[in-house]
Amino acid sequence: MTKGPIGIFDSGYGGLTILREIIREMPEYDYIYLGDNARAPYGQRSFDTIYQYTLECVQWFFKQGCPLVILACNTASAKALKNIQHLALPLMTPENRVLGVIRPTAEVIGHYTHTNEIGILATTGTVISESYLIEIKKRFPDIKVVQQACPMWVPMIESNDFRNEGGDYYLRKYLDQLLSGSKLIDTILLACTHYPILTQKIKQYIGEDITILSQGPIVAKSLKDYLRRHPEIASRVTKDSSYEFFTTDAESDFDTHASLFFGSPVKAHHTEIDHTIHFYPKALGKK
Ligand code: DGL
Repeated sequence: MTKGPIGIFDSGYGGLTILREIIREMPEYDYIYLGDNARAPYGQRSFDTIYQYTLECVQWFFKQGCPLVILACNTASAKALKNIQHLALPLMTPENRVLGVIRPTAEVIGHYTHTNEIGILATTGTVISESYLIEIKKRFPDIKVVQQACPMWVPMIESNDFRNEGGDYYLRKYLDQLLSGSKLIDTILLACTHYPILTQKIKQYIGEDITILSQGPIVAKSLKDYLRRHPEIASRVTKDSSYEFFTTDAESDFDTHASLFFGSPVKAHHTEIDHTIHFYPKALGKK
């Protein structure tokens, strides 16, 4: 049984909004972050591609000795997690664990709404997967969920264009489309880990009456609870408060952008991903 850091994965920078909250909650553990920036964004890619990319990255984390990997990316959680958990993991390293961000969010989201109407803003991939509709219905069958895909948001956040007029245009466009779907929405979930960067701008546009929910604190609390309930995994996570960052693209670019998401300066290393998948069962239930 290997011992090592908790792996935190995202297609790019978004997962840093999750990692910062996890560290706030549990600073004592070691963490290793991987952004697959060279291939981001994932949001518009096909099911098979997202599954393959995510599996390659999970394999990379296991090579670093991580006993537990968090897919801090809704798109990867929606498209790849189930197949990784049920098909790939048993062949790779059955003693390790891979968790996502959709289930912990769906478990608590019903506690935030009074009108029982929730808006979900996410990538096209997450919306098409209907993962949120399915997971929320299981726990809160009376809640109406309205989804809106925001395909321009991740590119405009990663390129810093969300600060200019073009960014404002796309911000308004998707919010208007979402809110035209229902007058009763009182809670909007930012179901993409990049989107918390837009929170202030969203609030300025739609006002304070609607609660804007980011996943970071929710996922952090859920992970803490998971580790409490799974001492066999918790005991395999090393505890030196060491935080390391890796990117599949240029490290200097990563360092420049990452602090916006992480909230403090980041010094990353470049890494190469092994594109040979050694355990590659065909994905089921593609959506
Ligand atoms: N941060 C990822 C998510 O939560 C987004 C990504 C992308 O399009 O790459 O969905």
